[in-house]
Amino acid sequence: MCGIVGYVGKKDAVEVLLEGLKKLEYRGYDSAGIAVIIDKELHIRRSVGKLCNLEENLAKNPLSISARIGIGHTRWATHGRPSEENAHPHTDSTKNIGIVHNGIIENYVELRSKLEKNGKNFKSETDTEVIAHLIKKHYNNNLLNAVQKTLSELGGSYALGIICMNEPDKILCARHNAPLIIGVGKGENFIASDILALLPYTREMIFLENGDIAEITADKIVIKDIKDNNITTREIKSVRWDAMQAKKDGYKHFMLKEIFEQPRTIEDTFRGRIYPDEGKVHIEEVKLKEKDIKKISNIYIVACGTSYHSALVSKFLFENFTRIPTEVDIASEFRYRAPILNENILVVVISQSGETADTLAALRFAKSRNCQTLAVCNVVGSTMSREAMYVIYTYCGPEIGVASTKAFTGQLTILYILALDWAYKRETLAKNELKTYLKELWEVPVKISKFLKNTEFVNDIAKLFAHKRDFLYLGRHVNHPVALEGALKLKEISYIHAEGYAAGEMKHGPIALVDESMPIVVIAVKSKVYEKIISNIEEAKARGATIIAVANESDKEIKHKSDHVIYVPKTDEFVSPLITVVPLQLLAYYIAVLLGRDIDQPRNLAKSVTVE
Ligand code: F6R
Repeated sequence: MCGIVGYVGKKDAVEVLLEGLKKLEYRGYDSAGIAVIIDKELHIRRSVGKLCNLEENLAKNPLSISARIGIGHTRWATHGRPSEENAHPHTDSTKNIGIVHNGIIENYVELRSKLEKNGKNFKSETDTEVIAHLIKKHYNNNLLNAVQKTLSELGGSYALGIICMNEPDKILCARHNAPLIIGVGKGENFIASDILALLPYTREMIFLENGDIAEITADKIVIKDIKDNNITTREIKSVRWDAMQAKKDGYKHFMLKEIFEQPRTIEDTFRGRIYPDEGKVHIEEVKLKEKDIKKISNIYIVACGTSYHSALVSKFLFENFTRIPTEVDIASEFRYRAPILNENILVVVISQSGETADTLAALRFAKSRNCQTLAVCNVVGSTMSREAMYVIYTYCGPEIGVASTKAFTGQLTILYILALDWAYKRETLAKNELKTYLKELWEVPVKISKFLKNTEFVNDIAKLFAHKRDFLYLGRHVNHPVALEGALKLKEISYIHAEGYAAGEMKHGPIALVDESMPIVVIAVKSKVYEKIISNIEEAKARGATIIAVANESDKEIKHKSDHVIYVPKTDEFVSPLITVVPLQLLAYYIAVLLGRDIDQPRNLAKSVTVE
C-alpha cells in the first residue's frame, strides 16, 4: 500500500528519494514526505496529496545543503485521514528519530495510551508515531538495540525505514509481513518497498524476510535476526526488469501502454514454455511429476480483484481439461470459511504483486493445512513467490497503472498452459487436442495486435456512453468472469457504477434495472453458449436496453441484434477471454479519459494492498 524509500551514499539524497517516490506513487498517493539528516540535524518535509505537492513544498522550503542520507514515504491512509500531520516520516518529541512505515501496528492504541500516560505528546492520529516514541524511549546510544526492543513490543505488520541524528550515517530497516528490499550499490545503498524504486540505480537486490533487521551504511549491509541478534546471510539477486520498462514510452498513461503491451507480454509469458508443433509444454518451475499431478484431488484457486477474475476463468480450464474439481475463493474470505484441506489438495494463489495481504494469508493458511501450494506472480522475489512451494512467473514486466490489465492476460496465459499440460499428463487430453489448443494460444498475440491496430471506434462508442450513470456487463461460461472484469475496470477508473452478471441470471432479478438509459455490454463471441447469449440480448433489447456487443468478425448477424458491435478476431472459446477482455479494458480507459479521471491513480485505490 504505502511506499518506502531510503538512501545513503554520495548522491543528493533528496533527488534519489523523490525519484524513488515517483516510482512508488502508484502504491498510495494521499500524502508524501521525506526526512534527511544534514549536520546531525533531522529535516522533514511533508505534504498532503500527490508527490508534486511535496516537490512544490521543497521548492518553497529548500534544504540549506544537499543531504547524503534520508528516507521517504508515499501514503495510502489506514489510521488517520490524509493530512500533513499524519503524513510520514514521523518523529519522536525531540525530533531525533525519523521513521517511515508500511503496515499496521495492531496494538498501537494500547501502546499510545501507555506513552501518553508517561507524558508523550502525539502529533498525529497514526499507528506509526508510537514506533518513533518507543525507539526514543529505548535509545541508549545504540539505534539497533533501541529498534530491536521496540519491535519486540509491536503487534501487526511493518516494513520500516529509520534514521537517527545521533547515528547520521546509517539507515535501519526491518520487516514483518510487509515487503522490503535493499538495493545494493557501490559506495551507496538503498531501501524500498518495491523493485521499481531501485531500478534506476541498481538491479542487485536483497529481498528481506520476515524477522530481518538490517543496518545499512554507504559501504556495508548487515542483516540480523530481530530476536536473537544473529547475523543472517541473504542472497543478492539480480533482477531482470529494466528501468525503461517503467516508463510511459510516449503513451499518455501507463494503463494505455500496458493494454497495448499485451501481445508482447502474453508471448513473453508463453515463449519457451509451449511448443505447439510438437504438442509439448515445458514448465520448469513446477517440479511435480506425472504421478504427483495424478494425485491432486482438488484445486483451490485464491486471489483478489482482477486476479480473482482470472482465477474464475481458470476454474473452467482446470475442470474442463484436467477434470480436477476446482474451487475459486476470494482471498479475504478463504481462511474464514473453514475450507476442507489436506495434502492432496493444491492451492493456487494468483497475484500480480505477490504481496496482497489477504492472498498471502490464504497461502500461509493453505501451508499450515499441509496443502501443496503454487503461486502465479508477476513481481520477481515477491513474498508469495518465495513462500509458495512452486512459483510460475508471468513475464509482463512492471505493471504501474493501478487498474490491472496485462497482468490479467499474463495470468490467464499461465493458467491455460498449466491446465493443458496437466490434462495431457492426466490423460484427459489427447496429444492432437493439446497441439490444437497450444496453437490457438500461440496465435493470440497476433490476433490482439490486429485488434489494437484500430481502436478509434472503441473511443467513438465511449463518447456515446461516457455520461451514463450505470452499466451492465454480461457474459456466459468463460466470458462471465470477463464481464466481471470489464465492470471492475469501468468502476475503478471512471467511477461509473457497473455490474457484471452471468447473462442467464438476468431474468432472476437484474433485468428489473433495464430501461432505455441502460447500456449493456455483452460478450457474444462464438461458443457453445452463443445462441443462449443471443436470447439474453433479445430479452434486454425488448426492455429498451442499448446493446454494445463484443463479437467475432465473422458474425454477420450480430449487428442486427445489437446497437453497437466491437469486432474481435475469432479464437477457441477457452482462449477467448484473452482477447475479449482487451476491448473492455479500452472502453473503460476511453470513458475515464473523457471524464477527465486520474487514469493511473484512481481515487481511493492503491496498486498493492498489503494490509488486510
Ligand atoms: C484491479 C486491480 C486489483 C488487483 C487486486 C489484487 O484493476 O488491480 O483488483 O487485481 O488488488 O492484486 P494482486 O494481483 O497484486 O494480488
